[in-house]
Amino acid sequence: MIRIRRAQLADSSAIGRVQVETWQSAYAGLLPDDMLAGMSDVRHAAMWMQTLSHKTESRGVFVADDSDMGVVGFGSCGPVRDTPEGLDGTEVRVGEVYLLYVEPDFQNQGIGRRLLDALFRQLRADGFDTAVLWMLADNPTRFFYEGLGGRRVGEREDTFAGTDVDEVAYAWRDLEAPLMRRKLAPDGA
Ligand SMILES: CC(C)(COP(=O)(O)OP(=O)(O)OC[C@H]1O[C@@H](n2cnc3c(N)ncnc32)[C@H](O)[C@@H]1OP(=O)(O)O)[C@@H](O)C(=O)NCCC(=O)NCCS
Repeated sequence: MIRIRRAQLADSSAIGRVQVETWQSAYAGLLPDDMLAGMSDVRHAAMWMQTLSHKTESRGVFVADDSDMGVVGFGSCGPVRDTPEGLDGTEVRVGEVYLLYVEPDFQNQGIGRRLLDALFRQLRADGFDTAVLWMLADNPTRFFYEGLGGRRVGEREDTFAGTDVDEVAYAWRDLEAPLMRRKLAPDGA
């Protein structure tokens, strides 16, 4: 059974491990090989420990916790860091989904959808009326976000380990969209 719940400090190592695993598998060929090979569970765990030690930042971090395997996915959100140019200007408070990752063996089982729903609920609870998410333009999982009602609203260039990459932004105005609710199992997140 998989439960979506808010992350705790004790999840730092598990989140760091899932982040390294998912980046190395999802971004091969999209981000520099050296950078991916150089990612370290220990370094990422330390970064998560810092994030999860802050009360405000840790509010926006959720994990998918499998009763046998432990943390198999995670996501994070908070105030927007880079507002895409294509928002229509009527948004009052814009939040952002910073990260969303599910371990390869657990993908396509509805976990990403449940995590995204928990993040949207958190953003709503914090008073945001719009959510944006930036991702690599070449990432095939953009269809995941389009399927869940995300509207493409921006582009930017980012740099990873000296390599320029194109990114695109998606936005959601209705953070209670029926599409999100349709297949949800209750999880008390
Ligand atoms: C993208 C990701 C978070 C989705 O999580 P997931 O648990 O695999 O997705 P779900 O099982 O909840 O899928 C929800 C819907 O999206 C669809 N979907 C999932 N991945 C998809 C993909 N790569 N392309 C097209 N549709 C996809 C599913 O078919 C499902 O639709 P349905 O309910 O109508 O059948 C996960 O696959 C992942 O971590 N991928 C690798 C890392 C990555 O690229 N993350 C995004 C960074 S911004």
